[in-house]
Amino acid sequence: MDRDQHLRQAAYKEIEKHQLLVEQDPYRLHYHIMPLVGLLNDPNGFVQWKGTYHLFYQWMPFETGHGAKFWGHYQSKDLVNWKHEGIALTPAEWFEKNGCYSGSALVHEGQLYVFYTGNVKDEEGNRESYQCLAVSEDGVHFDKKGPVVQLPRGYTAHFRDPKVWEQNGAYFMVIGAQTDDWKGAVVLFTSSNLVDWKHVGIIAGGGKGPLEAFGYMFECPDLFHLDGQDVLVFSPQGLEPDGMKYHNVYQAGYVTGIFEAEKTSYKHGEFYELDHGFDFYAPQTTRDEKGRRILFGWMSVPDQGEQDHPTIQHQWLHNMTLPRELKLVNGKLYQSPVAELRDLREGDAIEREVSINQETRWVKGVEGKALELELKEINLKAGWLAISFGGSGRIVYSRNDQVFTMERESYVDGVVEKRQTEVKELHDLQIFLDTSSIEVFINGGEYVFTSRFYPSPNNESIQFRASQTVSFHLKKWKLRRVF
Ligand code: FRU
Repeated sequence: MDRDQHLRQAAYKEIEKHQLLVEQDPYRLHYHIMPLVGLLNDPNGFVQWKGTYHLFYQWMPFETGHGAKFWGHYQSKDLVNWKHEGIALTPAEWFEKNGCYSGSALVHEGQLYVFYTGNVKDEEGNRESYQCLAVSEDGVHFDKKGPVVQLPRGYTAHFRDPKVWEQNGAYFMVIGAQTDDWKGAVVLFTSSNLVDWKHVGIIAGGGKGPLEAFGYMFECPDLFHLDGQDVLVFSPQGLEPDGMKYHNVYQAGYVTGIFEAEKTSYKHGEFYELDHGFDFYAPQTTRDEKGRRILFGWMSVPDQGEQDHPTIQHQWLHNMTLPRELKLVNGKLYQSPVAELRDLREGDAIEREVSINQETRWVKGVEGKALELELKEINLKAGWLAISFGGSGRIVYSRNDQVFTMERESYVDGVVEKRQTEVKELHDLQIFLDTSSIEVFINGGEYVFTSRFYPSPNNESIQFRASQTVSFHLKKWKLRRVF
C-alpha cells in the first residue's frame, strides 16, 4: 500500500473508532460544519462548480491538535445541507509531508485546480514551504502535480496559503508571508498558464504603507473585486491590543483599495476587523454562480486556549462559521447570513412586540439551543439592553456608551470575559444560536460577533433585560438539525 492509501485508511479508521463518542457530545453543533473526528481549521478551496458548492477544510484526523494536515471535503447544492465527501488530500509526498496547508480552488478548462501549501519540517524543526498544484476531473479525486512556486528571496519559510484568481485572461496568486526582517506581508505572483508563476513582490504590508507596523506574519490572504473596490482579506499575527480592537491572539480583517492588474499594483487604505467576537480567523471567499461573494470563516483562533474546549473529551474540535454574503457599503464590508439559511427554519416564527422597562423578561416560547432570533425596530433611547443565553453567554448594547459587548464564561477558567466594539446606534439584530456557538449580526451585518461558548446543556433559557425602557419587534425560529 502506498503512503497516500495508508494515511487515508488510518484517517477513516479514526472516524469509525470515535464515531459514537463524537456523536454523544451535547455540544455537537446542529447546523455548522464540523470535523467527523479530530481538529478542523481553515476553510480551503471554497468554490461553486457546476452548481455544487465545494468546501474543503484543514483537518487533523488523529488528534484534537494541529500537525500534518489533510484536506477534508464537504459538498452542498444549497449552502445548508452538506455531504461529507471524505478526504481530498493527504500529506503523503515529500513536498507536503508535514501538512497540506491552506489554499484555494479555481475551475479551469473543465477541471478543478487546487493550490495549497506543502509544509515540510526537518528534525530540527527547520521549515520549508512549497506552493503546490493538484487537479481534479470530478472535484473529489485529485492528481498531485507537485510544487509550482518555490520560496523567493526576501522571505522566511512562513510563506503559505495561496489564493488564485483569473482576471482579464491572466492568473494571479496572493500568498501570506513573513519578510526576512519579520514583517507580515501579502505577496503577488502572476501566471499565464497556472503552472509557471512569476514573483511580482509585496502588495500589502512588508513594513510599509498603511500597514507599516502591523505584525510579523500575514496568513490566508484573499483579494477580490466587490462593489467597485478591490478588497484584501487577510489574517495578521502580532498585533497588540489597541482600545477595543485586537484582543484575540490573532486577527482577521480587510483593507479596501484598487488593484491594477496591468501594473500589478494595489493601493489600499487602513485595516478593519471583520468580526468582533472571540472566535473568527482565516476566512476565505468565493464568487458563486449567482454572482454573490460568500465567505466562510474558521470559528476559532490558533493558540487561543484550544486544548481547553470541552469537545476534546469527545475527540473533536472546532467548526466553520455560517456562510455569509458580503457587500461593500460606504467603504465597509457588511456580512449577512446567506438567504438559503432560511431553509433551516422549522415551523412558524414566534412573533411578539416586546417592551421592557427596568426588568428581566422571558418571552414564552423563546428558548432553545438551536434557533434564530430577529429583533427589529429596536427603540432604545437611553441605558442598556442585555440578552443572556443559557446563563453563560450575554450580549449587551449600551446606548449611553455606544458600545456593543459580547460576554462569555471562559471555557478555560470560568471567568467572564468580553469583547467590544463601538456601535453608534442599534437598529436591528439577527442572532444564530447553536448548541455551543453564537453569531450576532448587528444593523444588517455592519458589525458581527462570532463566538463559541458552552452553556449547560439543559439550560435553554433566553433572558432580556433593560436598565430603562426598550421596545422591539421579536421573531424566533427553531432551526433544524442538519449535522
Ligand atoms: C491558519 C493557518 C494557515 C496554514 C494552516 C495550517 O490558521 O496557520 O496559515 O496554512 O493554518 O493548518
